[in-house]
Amino acid sequence: MDSSRKKRSTKFRRAQLRHFFVTRGLNRLSGGRLLDRHSAESVLVRRIDITMPNWPTQLDGLRIAHISDLHVGDLMSIERAIEIIRLIADEQPDIVCNTGDVADLICPELGPLFKACVALQPPMGNFLVLGNHDELDDGERVAEMAEAAGIRVLRNEQASIVHGDTSMRIGGVDWSRTPADCRKSIDQALREGPIDILLSHNPKGFEHAAERGIPLTLSGHTHGGQIARKNKPDANLALAMNHRRSAGLYKHGDSRLFVTVGAGALFPLRMNCPAEIAMLTITRG
Ligand SMILES: [Fe+2]
Repeated sequence: MDSSRKKRSTKFRRAQLRHFFVTRGLNRLSGGRLLDRHSAESVLVRRIDITMPNWPTQLDGLRIAHISDLHVGDLMSIERAIEIIRLIADEQPDIVCNTGDVADLICPELGPLFKACVALQPPMGNFLVLGNHDELDDGERVAEMAEAAGIRVLRNEQASIVHGDTSMRIGGVDWSRTPADCRKSIDQALREGPIDILLSHNPKGFEHAAERGIPLTLSGHTHGGQIARKNKPDANLALAMNHRRSAGLYKHGDSRLFVTVGAGALFPLRMNCPAEIAMLTITRG
């Protein structure tokens, strides 16, 4: 076994242990009630307007469906994930951006879910970056299933979108754990030219993205901690304490970061931090 595979499997085993205690254990302690209640909670379609001075005029009014952290596995069936995707069908987004953690632990069959994303038929396309959970078992397979369904997976690179008179460059980076890792991946994506929107599972890349002139960064990963203080989604009490930017909209200079609290969960409990799909409208101003 080469060293990178060994490293991945050590990470996987660690995640498997955490999964046993946090994801399943908590639920067992509650006699199954936590998961029943968690599964019955609806996912919000949350509409957010973002205005920034450096947003290209030709992209004024762009509507993005931002999906993240579905965590398909024990806490999210593929059928429920598909239902969640269908919530945004009536929103008619221009583009669908998924910032990763589609799989929770063991990579399931994700083809039908990715096909449901493509069936939304956003005129500017469907894009995905991988999260840390996607890479636990088989990130390559997650990427292959997405590409086979017609989703462009951005792996430290960018893509050019031309739609009518509008053109845009979207960049995306693989899971990068530290700010230094994020910087490296973002610089790699920027080698091909400037980027209008960056997808990065980890919000820790934002400062560098802003300093490199990227107007908008979309992230997930934090789940907003899943447990937050009332009316203060970024004052979280759990998972995301080591993240300065854990939920909602942030500024650095003229650039903006939006961190979604995600549609799925790592443990079957959310308080003051409902699961969401974000519908973003981006304007210049
Ligand atoms: Fe996640």
